[in-house]
Amino acid sequence: MLGRMISAAPVCIVTGATSGIGRAVAVALASHFPHLILLGRDERRGSQLSDWLARRHPRASIEFIPGDLSSLRGVQGLAESLRQRTSRVDLLINNAGARFDVFRESSDGLELTFATNHLGHFLLTLLLWEPLVAAPAARLINVSSSAHAGATRPDRWLMTAPDYDRRQAYARSKLANLLFTYELARRCPGSPMTVNAMHPGMVASGFARNNGLLSWCKHLLAHGLKGELISPVRGAQTITYLATSPELSGSSGNYYFQCRPVPSSTLSRDEGLARQLWAESVRLTGMDLT
Ligand SMILES: NC(=O)c1ccc[n+]([C@@H]2O[C@H](COP(=O)([O-])OP(=O)(O)OC[C@H]3O[C@@H](n4cnc5c(N)ncnc54)[C@H](OP(=O)(O)O)[C@@H]3O)[C@@H](O)[C@H]2O)c1
Repeated sequence: MLGRMISAAPVCIVTGATSGIGRAVAVALASHFPHLILLGRDERRGSQLSDWLARRHPRASIEFIPGDLSSLRGVQGLAESLRQRTSRVDLLINNAGARFDVFRESSDGLELTFATNHLGHFLLTLLLWEPLVAAPAARLINVSSSAHAGATRPDRWLMTAPDYDRRQAYARSKLANLLFTYELARRCPGSPMTVNAMHPGMVASGFARNNGLLSWCKHLLAHGLKGELISPVRGAQTITYLATSPELSGSSGNYYFQCRPVPSSTLSRDEGLARQLWAESVRLTGMDLT
């Protein structure tokens, strides 16, 4: 446990560390970072993981902090806890995410896919801005998906119950991850901080498990039959590469798959849409950027 303020050595934060890709990233990065902070909702799984990693890496400080990223108050609480623990964040991996087969709202009354996959990370990133810029060259990694390419241009970012389309909701949330990545990179020209996005591949993880066993099995089967399912460890490789490779210092505003920069959809490169998403995200999160 981190009982005191940490500041002298690099700090890494991983969201959605209790399962799948995030868990595999945490395991891979525990040997690279002296301070590792894992975020997730499930206290039992989170503490089990941080305790297990702490036993394997006795020289590192590894801590789990519980919090719900779909809730604006939850994110504010997480950011507050993080700022109390550290004055620097060298690596922020915005990984947590989910797809919802049926329309659901967050505790703030916002469509849950968009609230979880985009707004929570948007708010967390901006609330951690000071510790991010306090690090010598922070890296920010947003976990998107190739599913972003299926997104159509949204009239409104928040779907409502009557117009809910689970595939579009997910695709647009992953498009939002990319628009946010590129907009942030444009807003920090010449900064030592870098921001990149990535697609992990089709990963056999807990993804879609929240929709029930049948939906989860269908998801695994659909990708398994195409021969494209990979393990969480392999899905985590591009994140570890983006997090640790010295040759990537200063390289920002790109989208990666299998440790290589790849093109993303035309819509994801629409600067007007990125600015509009930014303004809408500021409005919905109530961020005061003055
Ligand atoms: N699996 C794939 O094929 C695939 C493909 C492309 C992109 N991705 C992306 O990869 C990322 C990780 O997914 P995964 O495959 O590792 O899925 P996973 O095994 O379901 O892990 C998702 C993680 O996010 C956490 N999470 C979900 N909702 C949250 C919330 N409201 N607040 C806090 N944490 C929350 C989960 O916590 P709980 O365990 O408490 O639910 C879990 O730790 C996601 O962003 C996903 O969109 C996955």
